[in-house]
Amino acid sequence: MTVYTASCTAPVNIATLKYWGKRDKALNLPTNSSISVTLSQKDLRTLTTASASSDYTSDKLWLNGKEESLESPRSKACLQDLRQLRAQVEASNSDLPKLSQYKLHIVSENNFPTAAGLASSAAGFAALVSSIAKLYKLPQDMSELSKIARKGSGSACRSLFGGFVAWEMGESIDGEDSKAVEVAPLSHWPTLKAAILVVSDDKKDTPSTSGMQLTVATSDLFQYRIKDVVPKRFEEMKSAILAKDFEKFAELTMKDSNSFHAVCLDSYPPIFYLNDTSKKIIKLVHKLNELEGKIIAAYTFDAGPNAVIYYDESNEQKVLGLLNTYFGSLGGWESYQGETLPKLEIEGTDS
Ligand code: ADP
Ligand code: DP6
Ligand code: CO
Repeated sequence: MTVYTASCTAPVNIATLKYWGKRDKALNLPTNSSISVTLSQKDLRTLTTASASSDYTSDKLWLNGKEESLESPRSKACLQDLRQLRAQVEASNSDLPKLSQYKLHIVSENNFPTAAGLASSAAGFAALVSSIAKLYKLPQDMSELSKIARKGSGSACRSLFGGFVAWEMGESIDGEDSKAVEVAPLSHWPTLKAAILVVSDDKKDTPSTSGMQLTVATSDLFQYRIKDVVPKRFEEMKSAILAKDFEKFAELTMKDSNSFHAVCLDSYPPIFYLNDTSKKIIKLVHKLNELEGKIIAAYTFDAGPNAVIYYDESNEQKVLGLLNTYFGSLGGWESYQGETLPKLEIEGTDS
């Protein structure tokens, strides 16, 4: 039996301006644009191998050694889009094997906690889409592939690019303009680093997808956030990044994390992602900035209690020294930014 395979890794990205809310659940279209920093794959990453064979009888996924369903509408949407693009490739070269008609087996592993608020769905779906795109030798660019990854998990669209990334919410009903774009590459600000503190690696009790649905349906504060706060912040944050203005970038990042957790609390019933340790970390970062007389560290928390602290390498000793003194018992990583995924190999005619 012939089995065609391709593997690739994908990084996590941690939003500095949060995506929280969908205007279209099936297509994963957001209620606001968002911005993130892609982290280095040396630390946190997903490794995925996709294989196709005429002998396979169904699509299957093994995640961290356990079989998981690929039957969710979001996974099916990704596979369907990728198969359609592969069918176009096959139509233009009849010598190629008809991989678009074969079932897929996907094996994926995260080297960090899954579903704990450390963006596993982002790295996971970015790796899923990239590995299949590589297997299928698709010619599409990253922004095009980001639209497919978006259908798997919204935040995944941003993991295809390195450095600073924006997910432009778009306006169209079909989502063709809701895609990731580069704000600035890793080389723009290579000294910006992230410390990740694992407060808890437990699986969260409210997954991001259902959490944001509840917020959209019940929070009044959320309407204010998406109309009056985020659009302005999106422009301000892009400018701060381009100007390498750490203080401005950091202030906006902390405020947006707080705004996101405020709309979680304003949901009914309320959603709590931060715990007491998270709150102590928030206080410590404010104390550090106060003692310094300027902002040298910024916290942000996704949908979980785990902290990501952004800082410039020039302040590493001060920031990590303090974090270590108070939270040295917590596990974690100290990470640089990541690069854009290497251009998928489309040469060759074997698959
Ligand atoms: P997180 O904060 O980790 O992104 P989410 O609630 O957004 O948590 O998503 C977690 C879900 O993402 C998992 O339950 C799983 O369905 C999916 N996921 C995580 N990692 C992978 C992966 N490597 N491949 C495919 N799907 C994944
Ligand atoms: C708080 O992308 O995990 O991390 O699209 O439903 O899969 P789905 O949600 P997901 O939500 C991420 C929420 C966040 C903020 C962000 O990454 O922008
Ligand atoms: Co997620």
